[in-house]
Amino acid sequence: MVILGIETSCDETAAAVARGQGEGVEILSNIVSSQMEIHQKYGGVVPEVAAREHVLNILPVIDEALAGAKINRADAPKKLDAISVTIGPGLITSLQTGIETAKTLAFVWGLPIVAVNHIEAHIYANFINTQHATRNTQLGINFPAVILTVSGGHTMLVLMHGYGKFYTIGETRDDAAGEAFDKAASMLGIGYPGGPAIAAKAEALRVTRYALRDKKYKKTKILLPRPMIKGPDFDFSFSGLKTALKYELAKDKNWKKRIPEYAAEFQQAVIDVLIHKTIKAAEKYGAKTVMLAGGVAANLELREQLIKAAAAKIQQSEIRIPHLSHTTDNAAMVAAAGYFRARAKEFTPWQKLRVNC
Ligand code: KG4
Ligand code: ZN
Repeated sequence: MVILGIETSCDETAAAVARGQGEGVEILSNIVSSQMEIHQKYGGVVPEVAAREHVLNILPVIDEALAGAKINRADAPKKLDAISVTIGPGLITSLQTGIETAKTLAFVWGLPIVAVNHIEAHIYANFINTQHATRNTQLGINFPAVILTVSGGHTMLVLMHGYGKFYTIGETRDDAAGEAFDKAASMLGIGYPGGPAIAAKAEALRVTRYALRDKKYKKTKILLPRPMIKGPDFDFSFSGLKTALKYELAKDKNWKKRIPEYAAEFQQAVIDVLIHKTIKAAEKYGAKTVMLAGGVAANLELREQLIKAAAAKIQQSEIRIPHLSHTTDNAAMVAAAGYFRARAKEFTPWQKLRVNC
């Protein structure tokens, strides 16, 4: 089954072609046109600007994705089996560009449409054949699976019992993890998006510490809280962490000279809470698989530390981590999710396709 995936939920215009067979999904092309540079000067995504850019970019991006999969535009109706598109959550006017395009192409080409939830798509990034697995790289996922899904718009622990069977077991009560990174980076004046900026500063500190054998930095350790880490449930809260950083910066006249230290401690505080709750959920639900998903899954420290913690504490669970190109918003994950829904014949008639936020 060959699926064209379309993703326009935020500030990335993306299209991809995937071929699914049995439990496996192979990506034939994966095109992302990022608007990051346009939104950088505003310090965040401006919905109206994002929507206008999607309108300009969507057809060239789809054209490139088809070409990358060696599909001539004229052959698309014969070569494709379905079109899958993100219907939410996300920015309404951004989503509409993808939805209306998918609807029009399906109408003209006579193809079925698969409506995909954005968070579900992030989770299915782990089902793509290129994923890195620490143990047991066979295709197919063993259920139940616990998924830590972390991005700019959401932070959730999801329990998955089977294809399409998702239960939220915990979520953030305020800011999402990616949003917390973005706000902390803005406080530190190191740019947008904040996740990669904080990660880069933290990594620079790690390299310096290594070179200096840690002598210089040991005395100046900053301590931030690990919110809700001892809580009985699987919920998160990151807005207090952001406030704690604000107070620490206000107390420190020299904070501008210590930005890498603040970045490293902030990143570690977020990682500690995310990993602690993920391991606890995996233990409680007897997870056969633990997966990472969403834009924050691009964080190399989070990836490495989760693998280490899992090796020490939950040897019974296989760990799946998506390829870096399938972490931040992309359409490969939408095509993959589309394949599993199409396989179950879960189509939406074009007349009924609309935004679902
Ligand atoms: O999934 P995504 O592309 O969009 C949403 O669905 O929200 O996630 C974007 C979020 C941003 O908040 C960004 O700062 C964060 O993912 N992010 C990272 C990294 N790369 C992106 N956070 C931490 N470390 C990274 N390397
Ligand atoms: Zn996303």
